[in-house]
Amino acid sequence: MNKPNLQKQDSELFDILKSEEKKQQEKLSMIPSENFASKAVREAVGSVFMNKYSEGYPDARYYEGNYHIDELEKLAISRAKELFKVPSDWGVNVQALSGSPANLAVYLGLLEPGDKIMGMYLPDGGHLSHGWSYSPKSERNEENDGFLYAGGSRKVNVTSKFFKAIQYKTNPDNQLFDYEEIEKIALQEKPKLIITGGTAYPREIDYRKMKAIADKVGAYYLADIAHEAGLIAAGVNESPVGIADVVTFTTHKTLRCNRGAIILAQNDLMKKINRAVFPGLQGGPHNHSIAGISVGLKEALEPEFKRYAEQIVLNAQTLAQELSLYDFEIVTGGTDKHLVLINLTNKGVFGKKFARALDHAGIITNMNTMPQESRSPADPSALRIGTPWITTRGMKEKEMKQIAEWMNQVMEEITGWSEDDFEVFEEKAMKSERISAIAQSVMELCDNFPLDI
Ligand SMILES: Cc1ncc(COP(=O)(O)O)c(C=O)c1O
Repeated sequence: MNKPNLQKQDSELFDILKSEEKKQQEKLSMIPSENFASKAVREAVGSVFMNKYSEGYPDARYYEGNYHIDELEKLAISRAKELFKVPSDWGVNVQALSGSPANLAVYLGLLEPGDKIMGMYLPDGGHLSHGWSYSPKSERNEENDGFLYAGGSRKVNVTSKFFKAIQYKTNPDNQLFDYEEIEKIALQEKPKLIITGGTAYPREIDYRKMKAIADKVGAYYLADIAHEAGLIAAGVNESPVGIADVVTFTTHKTLRCNRGAIILAQNDLMKKINRAVFPGLQGGPHNHSIAGISVGLKEALEPEFKRYAEQIVLNAQTLAQELSLYDFEIVTGGTDKHLVLINLTNKGVFGKKFARALDHAGIITNMNTMPQESRSPADPSALRIGTPWITTRGMKEKEMKQIAEWMNQVMEEITGWSEDDFEVFEEKAMKSERISAIAQSVMELCDNFPLDI
Protein backbone atom coordinates (compact mmCIF):
# COMPACT_ATOMS: atom_id res chain seq x y z
CA MET A 1 0.00 0.00 0.00
CA ASN A 2 1.27 3.50 -0.77
CA LYS A 3 2.14 5.64 2.21
CA PRO A 4 -1.02 7.56 3.09
CA ASN A 5 -0.81 11.17 2.18
CA LEU A 6 -3.69 13.39 3.12
CA GLN A 7 -2.47 16.23 0.95
CA LYS A 8 -2.50 14.10 -2.22
CA GLN A 9 -5.65 12.18 -1.41
CA ASP A 10 -7.83 15.04 -0.21
CA SER A 11 -6.29 18.43 -0.85
CA GLU A 12 -9.54 20.18 0.01
CA LEU A 13 -9.57 18.78 3.54
CA PHE A 14 -5.80 19.22 3.81
CA ASP A 15 -6.09 22.93 3.09
CA ILE A 16 -8.73 23.39 5.78
CA LEU A 17 -6.53 21.50 8.25
CA LYS A 18 -3.51 23.68 7.45
CA SER A 19 -5.60 26.83 7.92
CA GLU A 20 -6.80 25.60 11.30
CA GLU A 21 -3.21 24.76 12.34
CA LYS A 22 -2.09 28.22 11.29
CA LYS A 23 -4.91 29.88 13.22
CA GLN A 24 -4.15 27.84 16.36
CA GLN A 25 -0.48 28.83 16.10
CA GLU A 26 -1.05 32.52 15.37
CA LYS A 27 -3.88 33.35 17.76
CA LEU A 28 -4.33 33.15 21.51
CA SER A 29 -6.95 30.47 22.27
CA MET A 30 -8.55 31.63 25.48
CA ILE A 31 -11.78 29.66 25.69
CA PRO A 32 -11.68 27.98 29.13
CA SER A 33 -13.06 24.64 27.90
CA GLU A 34 -10.30 24.24 25.32
CA ASN A 35 -6.72 23.05 25.49
CA PHE A 36 -3.96 21.85 23.19
CA ALA A 37 -3.38 18.09 23.42
CA SER A 38 0.15 16.75 23.04
CA LYS A 39 1.50 15.09 19.93
CA ALA A 40 1.49 11.72 21.72
CA VAL A 41 -2.20 12.10 22.57
CA ARG A 42 -2.99 13.05 18.98
CA GLU A 43 -0.94 10.14 17.67
CA ALA A 44 -2.91 7.70 19.81
CA VAL A 45 -6.21 9.21 18.65
CA GLY A 46 -5.17 8.83 15.01
CA SER A 47 -4.12 5.21 15.52
CA VAL A 48 -5.50 1.85 14.35
CA PHE A 49 -7.45 1.58 17.61
CA MET A 50 -10.20 3.38 15.70
CA ASN A 51 -10.72 0.31 13.55
CA LYS A 52 -11.89 -2.05 16.27
CA TYR A 53 -15.41 -2.75 17.50
CA SER A 54 -15.58 -3.81 21.15
CA GLU A 55 -19.12 -3.62 22.51
CA GLY A 56 -19.07 -4.60 26.16
CA TYR A 57 -16.45 -4.09 28.85
CA PRO A 58 -12.96 -5.60 29.39
CA ASP A 59 -13.06 -9.43 29.44
CA ALA A 60 -16.78 -9.38 28.52
CA ARG A 61 -17.06 -8.33 24.88
CA TYR A 62 -19.57 -9.17 22.20
CA TYR A 63 -16.88 -9.20 19.50
CA GLU A 64 -13.78 -11.36 19.09
CA GLY A 65 -10.24 -10.05 18.79
CA ASN A 66 -10.39 -7.61 21.68
CA TYR A 67 -7.38 -8.77 23.74
CA HIS A 68 -5.43 -5.57 23.07
CA ILE A 69 -8.49 -3.38 23.46
CA ASP A 70 -9.05 -4.99 26.86
CA GLU A 71 -5.47 -4.12 27.82
CA LEU A 72 -5.99 -0.58 26.57
CA GLU A 73 -9.22 0.01 28.48
CA LYS A 74 -7.83 -1.52 31.69
CA LEU A 75 -4.79 0.74 31.39
CA ALA A 76 -6.97 3.84 31.02
CA ILE A 77 -9.06 2.79 34.02
CA SER A 78 -6.04 2.10 36.23
CA ARG A 79 -4.46 5.46 35.30
CA ALA A 80 -7.72 7.28 36.07
CA LYS A 81 -7.89 5.49 39.43
CA GLU A 82 -4.34 6.51 40.30
CA LEU A 83 -4.68 10.10 39.11
CA PHE A 84 -7.97 10.84 40.85
CA LYS A 85 -7.18 8.75 43.96
CA VAL A 86 -10.33 6.73 43.39
CA PRO A 87 -11.36 4.71 46.49
CA SER A 88 -10.92 0.93 46.20
CA ASP A 89 -14.69 0.29 46.21
CA TRP A 90 -15.32 2.67 43.31
CA GLY A 91 -15.34 1.92 39.59
CA VAL A 92 -14.40 3.88 36.49
CA ASN A 93 -16.09 4.15 33.09
CA VAL A 94 -14.02 5.54 30.23
CA GLN A 95 -16.45 4.77 27.41
CA ALA A 96 -18.91 7.69 27.50
CA LEU A 97 -18.39 9.60 24.27
CA SER A 98 -18.34 13.04 25.84
CA GLY A 99 -19.50 15.06 28.86
CA SER A 100 -23.19 15.35 27.99
CA PRO A 101 -23.65 11.62 27.23
CA ALA A 102 -21.76 10.82 30.46
CA ASN A 103 -24.21 12.91 32.48
CA LEU A 104 -27.18 11.42 30.67
CA ALA A 105 -25.87 7.93 31.43
CA VAL A 106 -25.76 8.79 35.13
CA TYR A 107 -29.40 9.93 35.06
CA LEU A 108 -30.51 6.88 33.06
CA GLY A 109 -28.59 4.54 35.35
CA LEU A 110 -29.78 5.91 38.68
CA LEU A 111 -33.20 7.43 37.98
CA GLU A 112 -36.55 6.67 36.38
CA PRO A 113 -37.83 8.87 33.56
CA GLY A 114 -39.77 11.77 35.05
CA ASP A 115 -37.75 11.85 38.30
CA LYS A 116 -36.75 15.26 39.58
CA ILE A 117 -33.18 16.51 39.06
CA MET A 118 -31.77 19.75 40.43
CA GLY A 119 -28.79 21.49 38.83
CA MET A 120 -27.34 24.95 38.63
CA TYR A 121 -29.21 27.62 36.64
CA LEU A 122 -27.62 27.82 33.18
CA PRO A 123 -27.28 31.62 32.93
CA ASP A 124 -25.50 31.57 36.33
CA GLY A 125 -22.92 29.15 34.94
CA GLY A 126 -24.61 25.72 34.91
CA HIS A 127 -24.52 23.35 31.93
CA LEU A 128 -27.17 22.35 29.39
CA SER A 129 -26.91 18.71 30.41
CA HIS A 130 -27.94 19.56 33.98
CA GLY A 131 -31.58 19.89 32.91
CA TRP A 132 -31.76 23.13 30.98
CA SER A 133 -35.12 24.35 29.75
CA TYR A 134 -36.27 27.93 29.51
CA SER A 135 -39.43 29.90 29.61
CA PRO A 136 -40.25 33.03 27.67
CA LYS A 137 -40.33 36.11 29.95
CA SER A 138 -44.16 36.14 29.81
CA GLU A 139 -44.30 32.78 31.60
CA ARG A 140 -41.99 33.77 34.45
CA ASN A 141 -43.22 34.71 37.91
CA GLU A 142 -41.99 34.76 41.51
CA GLU A 143 -43.09 31.16 42.06
CA ASN A 144 -41.08 29.63 39.24
CA ASP A 145 -38.26 32.14 38.85
CA GLY A 146 -36.94 33.22 42.22
CA PHE A 147 -33.86 31.63 43.73
CA LEU A 148 -35.51 28.44 42.52
CA TYR A 149 -35.95 28.25 38.75
CA ALA A 150 -38.69 25.69 38.25
CA GLY A 151 -37.90 25.03 34.61
CA GLY A 152 -39.57 26.43 31.52
CA SER A 153 -41.87 25.21 28.79
CA ARG A 154 -39.09 25.13 26.19
CA LYS A 155 -37.33 21.82 26.89
CA VAL A 156 -34.04 22.64 25.21
CA ASN A 157 -31.96 19.73 26.45
CA VAL A 158 -32.84 16.04 26.45
CA THR A 159 -32.25 16.00 30.23
CA SER A 160 -35.20 18.38 30.74
CA LYS A 161 -37.39 16.44 28.29
CA PHE A 162 -37.08 13.14 30.13
CA PHE A 163 -36.62 14.35 33.70
CA LYS A 164 -38.37 17.02 35.73
CA ALA A 165 -35.60 19.58 35.98
CA ILE A 166 -35.41 22.42 38.49
CA GLN A 167 -32.46 24.74 39.02
CA TYR A 168 -30.86 26.76 41.80
CA LYS A 169 -29.29 30.18 41.25
CA THR A 170 -26.27 31.87 42.76
CA ASN A 171 -26.53 34.52 45.46
CA PRO A 172 -27.44 37.83 43.73
CA ASP A 173 -25.20 39.83 46.08
CA ASN A 174 -21.95 38.00 45.42
CA GLN A 175 -22.68 35.52 42.56
CA LEU A 176 -21.52 32.65 44.81
CA PHE A 177 -23.19 29.36 45.78
CA ASP A 178 -25.71 30.00 48.54
CA TYR A 179 -25.78 26.68 50.37
CA GLU A 180 -28.60 27.72 52.73
CA GLU A 181 -30.89 28.59 49.83
CA ILE A 182 -29.89 25.46 47.95
CA GLU A 183 -30.77 23.40 51.02
CA LYS A 184 -34.14 25.15 51.37
CA ILE A 185 -35.05 24.34 47.77
CA ALA A 186 -33.85 20.77 48.11
CA LEU A 187 -35.98 20.25 51.24
CA GLN A 188 -39.00 21.73 49.53
CA GLU A 189 -38.59 20.03 46.13
CA LYS A 190 -37.04 16.71 47.18
CA PRO A 191 -35.10 15.99 43.96
CA LYS A 192 -33.77 12.48 43.35
CA LEU A 193 -30.46 13.86 42.09
CA ILE A 194 -28.55 17.05 42.87
CA ILE A 195 -25.88 18.22 40.44
CA THR A 196 -23.05 20.71 40.82
CA GLY A 197 -20.56 21.90 38.27
CA GLY A 198 -20.69 24.46 35.57
CA THR A 199 -19.24 26.14 32.58
CA ALA A 200 -18.74 29.64 33.93
CA TYR A 201 -18.54 29.40 37.72
CA PRO A 202 -15.07 30.70 38.64
CA ARG A 203 -15.03 29.56 42.27
CA GLU A 204 -14.53 26.28 44.11
CA ILE A 205 -17.61 24.40 45.30
CA ASP A 206 -17.94 22.95 48.82
CA TYR A 207 -18.58 19.32 47.90
CA ARG A 208 -19.08 18.22 51.51
CA LYS A 209 -21.84 20.76 52.03
CA MET A 210 -23.55 19.67 48.83
CA LYS A 211 -23.31 16.00 49.81
CA ALA A 212 -24.82 16.81 53.22
CA ILE A 213 -27.75 18.55 51.49
CA ALA A 214 -28.25 15.59 49.16
CA ASP A 215 -28.15 13.19 52.12
CA LYS A 216 -30.78 15.23 53.97
CA VAL A 217 -33.28 14.75 51.16
CA GLY A 218 -32.22 11.25 50.11
CA ALA A 219 -30.87 12.40 46.74
CA TYR A 220 -27.85 11.17 44.86
CA TYR A 221 -25.15 13.79 44.47
CA LEU A 222 -23.38 14.14 41.12
CA ALA A 223 -20.32 16.40 40.96
CA ASP A 224 -19.65 17.28 37.31
CA ILE A 225 -16.04 18.51 37.30
CA ALA A 226 -15.72 18.82 33.51
CA HIS A 227 -13.95 22.15 33.69
CA GLU A 228 -11.64 21.70 36.64
CA ALA A 229 -10.75 17.97 36.28
CA GLY A 230 -7.10 18.80 35.51
CA LEU A 231 -6.85 21.20 38.43
CA ILE A 232 -8.38 18.58 40.74
CA ALA A 233 -6.11 15.83 39.41
CA ALA A 234 -3.13 18.05 40.19
CA GLY A 235 -4.40 18.84 43.69
CA VAL A 236 -4.78 22.53 42.89
CA ASN A 237 -8.58 22.45 43.44
CA GLU A 238 -10.44 20.33 46.01
CA SER A 239 -11.65 16.91 44.86
CA PRO A 240 -15.21 15.54 45.20
CA VAL A 241 -13.97 11.97 44.62
CA GLY A 242 -15.01 9.86 47.61
CA ILE A 243 -17.47 12.57 48.73
CA ALA A 244 -20.05 12.82 45.93
CA ASP A 245 -21.93 9.68 44.90
CA VAL A 246 -20.86 10.10 41.29
CA VAL A 247 -18.22 12.25 39.59
CA THR A 248 -18.24 12.95 35.85
CA PHE A 249 -15.83 14.96 33.76
CA THR A 250 -14.77 15.67 30.22
CA THR A 251 -11.18 14.85 29.41
CA HIS A 252 -10.40 17.66 26.98
CA LYS A 253 -10.44 20.79 29.10
CA THR A 254 -7.94 21.41 31.91
CA LEU A 255 -7.10 17.68 31.88
CA ARG A 256 -5.61 18.19 28.39
CA CYS A 257 -6.51 14.89 26.74
CA ASN A 258 -8.57 14.46 23.59
CA ARG A 259 -12.38 14.76 23.62
CA GLY A 260 -14.09 12.22 25.83
CA ALA A 261 -15.42 11.68 29.33
CA ILE A 262 -14.85 9.65 32.47
CA ILE A 263 -17.37 8.59 35.12
CA LEU A 264 -16.36 7.61 38.66
CA ALA A 265 -18.76 6.07 41.18
CA GLN A 266 -19.02 3.64 44.03
CA ASN A 267 -19.23 0.08 42.63
CA ASP A 268 -22.97 -0.55 43.16
CA LEU A 269 -23.87 2.67 41.36
CA MET A 270 -21.19 2.13 38.73
CA LYS A 271 -22.75 -1.18 37.69
CA LYS A 272 -26.01 0.61 36.89
CA ILE A 273 -24.22 3.48 35.16
CA ASN A 274 -22.09 1.07 33.09
CA ARG A 275 -25.28 -0.58 31.84
CA ALA A 276 -26.68 2.85 30.99
CA VAL A 277 -23.57 3.72 28.93
CA PHE A 278 -23.62 0.34 27.16
CA PRO A 279 -26.04 -1.00 26.04
CA GLY A 280 -28.32 1.79 27.27
CA LEU A 281 -26.98 4.69 25.26
CA GLN A 282 -24.08 3.61 23.08
CA GLY A 283 -22.78 0.74 21.00
CA GLY A 284 -19.05 0.31 20.49
CA PRO A 285 -16.70 2.55 22.46
CA HIS A 286 -14.36 4.89 20.60
CA ASN A 287 -11.17 2.97 21.32
CA HIS A 288 -8.94 5.57 19.70
CA SER A 289 -10.37 8.17 22.09
CA ILE A 290 -9.76 5.87 25.05
CA ALA A 291 -6.17 5.47 23.79
CA GLY A 292 -5.64 9.23 23.66
CA ILE A 293 -7.18 9.66 27.09
CA SER A 294 -4.89 6.97 28.45
CA VAL A 295 -1.84 8.86 27.16
CA GLY A 296 -3.16 12.17 28.52
CA LEU A 297 -3.76 10.61 31.94
CA LYS A 298 -0.15 9.39 32.01
CA GLU A 299 1.01 12.93 31.25
CA ALA A 300 -1.18 14.24 34.06
CA LEU A 301 0.48 11.83 36.49
CA GLU A 302 3.87 13.48 35.88
CA PRO A 303 5.09 16.08 38.44
CA GLU A 304 5.26 18.62 35.60
CA PHE A 305 1.45 18.54 35.32
CA LYS A 306 1.06 19.85 38.87
CA ARG A 307 3.26 22.83 38.00
CA TYR A 308 1.20 23.32 34.85
CA ALA A 309 -2.09 23.33 36.81
CA GLU A 310 -0.67 25.78 39.36
CA GLN A 311 0.39 28.08 36.53
CA ILE A 312 -3.07 27.88 34.92
CA VAL A 313 -4.61 29.29 38.11
CA LEU A 314 -1.86 31.87 38.63
CA ASN A 315 -2.34 33.05 35.06
CA ALA A 316 -6.13 33.32 35.44
CA GLN A 317 -5.75 35.22 38.71
CA THR A 318 -3.21 37.57 37.15
CA LEU A 319 -5.52 38.23 34.22
CA ALA A 320 -8.45 38.93 36.54
CA GLN A 321 -6.37 41.34 38.60
CA GLU A 322 -4.90 43.14 35.61
CA LEU A 323 -8.27 43.46 33.89
CA SER A 324 -9.82 44.94 36.99
CA LEU A 325 -7.12 47.65 36.91
CA TYR A 326 -8.63 48.64 33.55
CA ASP A 327 -12.06 48.82 35.17
CA PHE A 328 -13.29 45.49 33.89
CA GLU A 329 -15.73 44.09 36.43
CA ILE A 330 -14.84 40.51 37.34
CA VAL A 331 -17.78 38.30 38.35
CA THR A 332 -17.25 37.10 41.98
CA GLY A 333 -14.29 39.48 42.16
CA GLY A 334 -11.74 36.93 40.93
CA THR A 335 -11.17 33.24 40.31
CA ASP A 336 -9.98 30.03 42.00
CA LYS A 337 -9.64 28.26 38.72
CA HIS A 338 -8.77 28.56 35.05
CA LEU A 339 -11.57 30.88 34.02
CA VAL A 340 -12.50 34.51 34.42
CA LEU A 341 -15.98 35.88 33.75
CA ILE A 342 -16.13 39.58 32.88
CA ASN A 343 -19.31 41.58 33.41
CA LEU A 344 -19.28 44.14 30.59
CA THR A 345 -22.28 46.16 31.74
CA ASN A 346 -20.17 49.17 32.77
CA LYS A 347 -18.38 49.14 29.40
CA GLY A 348 -21.50 49.42 27.27
CA VAL A 349 -20.17 46.99 24.66
CA PHE A 350 -21.35 43.47 25.43
CA GLY A 351 -20.12 39.90 24.93
CA LYS A 352 -20.97 39.34 21.29
CA LYS A 353 -19.28 42.44 19.91
CA PHE A 354 -16.32 42.36 22.29
CA ALA A 355 -15.62 38.68 21.52
CA ARG A 356 -15.70 39.35 17.77
CA ALA A 357 -13.44 42.39 17.99
CA LEU A 358 -11.01 40.39 20.14
CA ASP A 359 -10.98 37.62 17.53
CA HIS A 360 -9.92 40.21 14.92
CA ALA A 361 -7.16 41.17 17.35
CA GLY A 362 -6.02 37.53 17.54
CA ILE A 363 -7.58 36.74 20.93
CA ILE A 364 -10.20 33.98 20.83
CA THR A 365 -12.72 34.08 23.69
CA ASN A 366 -16.45 33.56 24.03
CA MET A 367 -19.51 35.60 24.92
CA ASN A 368 -21.32 34.27 27.96
CA THR A 369 -24.29 34.84 30.22
CA MET A 370 -23.72 35.83 33.83
CA PRO A 371 -25.73 35.83 37.08
CA GLN A 372 -28.81 38.12 36.93
CA GLU A 373 -28.50 38.08 33.17
CA SER A 374 -30.92 40.51 31.54
CA ARG A 375 -29.85 40.06 27.93
CA SER A 376 -30.31 37.29 25.37
CA PRO A 377 -27.83 34.35 25.37
CA ALA A 378 -27.20 35.29 21.73
CA ASP A 379 -25.87 38.67 22.86
CA PRO A 380 -25.20 38.35 26.58
CA SER A 381 -23.64 40.72 29.13
CA ALA A 382 -20.40 38.88 29.78
CA LEU A 383 -17.22 37.53 28.26
CA ARG A 384 -15.62 34.27 29.41
CA ILE A 385 -11.88 33.78 29.14
CA GLY A 386 -9.59 30.97 30.25
CA THR A 387 -5.93 30.08 30.57
CA PRO A 388 -5.49 26.28 30.02
CA TRP A 389 -4.33 26.54 26.40
CA ILE A 390 -2.07 29.57 26.65
CA THR A 391 -0.49 28.03 29.76
CA THR A 392 0.23 24.88 27.75
CA ARG A 393 2.14 27.19 25.37
CA GLY A 394 4.31 28.24 28.31
CA MET A 395 2.88 31.70 28.91
CA LYS A 396 3.15 33.15 32.39
CA GLU A 397 2.19 36.27 34.40
CA LYS A 398 4.19 38.64 32.17
CA GLU A 399 2.21 37.56 29.11
CA MET A 400 -1.08 37.79 31.06
CA LYS A 401 -0.37 41.46 31.82
CA GLN A 402 0.28 42.07 28.14
CA ILE A 403 -2.92 40.27 27.11
CA ALA A 404 -5.00 42.31 29.60
CA GLU A 405 -3.51 45.48 28.15
CA TRP A 406 -4.43 44.40 24.61
CA MET A 407 -7.95 43.49 25.70
CA ASN A 408 -8.33 46.96 27.18
CA GLN A 409 -7.00 48.58 24.01
CA VAL A 410 -9.56 46.68 21.93
CA MET A 411 -12.31 47.80 24.29
CA GLU A 412 -11.12 51.42 24.03
CA GLU A 413 -11.20 51.16 20.25
CA ILE A 414 -14.75 49.75 20.04
CA THR A 415 -16.43 51.74 22.83
CA GLY A 416 -17.78 54.33 20.42
CA TRP A 417 -19.31 51.66 18.17
CA SER A 418 -21.70 50.14 20.69
CA GLU A 419 -24.85 51.33 18.91
CA ASP A 420 -23.79 50.05 15.48
CA ASP A 421 -25.51 47.06 13.86
CA PHE A 422 -23.34 43.97 14.19
CA GLU A 423 -22.36 43.93 10.50
CA VAL A 424 -21.33 47.60 10.59
CA PHE A 425 -19.48 46.96 13.84
CA GLU A 426 -17.56 44.04 12.40
CA GLU A 427 -16.66 45.98 9.27
CA LYS A 428 -15.16 48.71 11.47
CA ALA A 429 -13.29 46.11 13.58
CA MET A 430 -11.80 44.56 10.45
CA LYS A 431 -10.70 47.94 9.11
CA SER A 432 -9.32 49.21 12.43
CA GLU A 433 -5.58 49.87 12.26
CA ARG A 434 -5.31 49.67 16.03
CA ILE A 435 -6.92 46.22 16.11
CA SER A 436 -4.75 45.02 13.21
CA ALA A 437 -1.65 46.24 15.04
CA ILE A 438 -2.67 44.25 18.12
CA ALA A 439 -3.26 41.15 15.96
CA GLN A 440 0.29 41.58 14.62
CA SER A 441 1.70 41.83 18.15
CA VAL A 442 -0.30 38.77 19.22
CA MET A 443 1.19 36.84 16.31
CA GLU A 444 4.69 37.87 17.36
CA LEU A 445 4.00 36.76 20.95
CA CYS A 446 2.62 33.44 19.69
CA ASP A 447 5.76 32.97 17.59
CA ASN A 448 7.75 32.97 20.81
CA PHE A 449 5.53 30.23 22.26
CA PRO A 450 5.19 27.78 19.36
CA LEU A 451 2.72 24.92 19.49
CA ASP A 452 4.01 21.39 18.95
CA ILE A 453 1.84 20.81 15.87
C1 LIG B 1 -19.79 21.32 33.35
C2 LIG B 1 -19.90 20.66 32.01
N1 LIG B 1 -20.50 19.47 31.93
C3 LIG B 1 -20.63 18.84 30.76
C4 LIG B 1 -20.14 19.39 29.60
C5 LIG B 1 -20.42 18.69 28.31
O1 LIG B 1 -19.36 18.25 27.64
P1 LIG B 1 -19.44 17.91 26.07
O2 LIG B 1 -19.37 19.20 25.37
O3 LIG B 1 -18.25 17.04 25.91
O4 LIG B 1 -20.72 17.17 25.85
C6 LIG B 1 -19.47 20.61 29.64
C7 LIG B 1 -18.91 21.21 28.40
O5 LIG B 1 -18.49 22.29 28.33
C8 LIG B 1 -19.36 21.26 30.88
O6 LIG B 1 -18.77 22.45 30.97
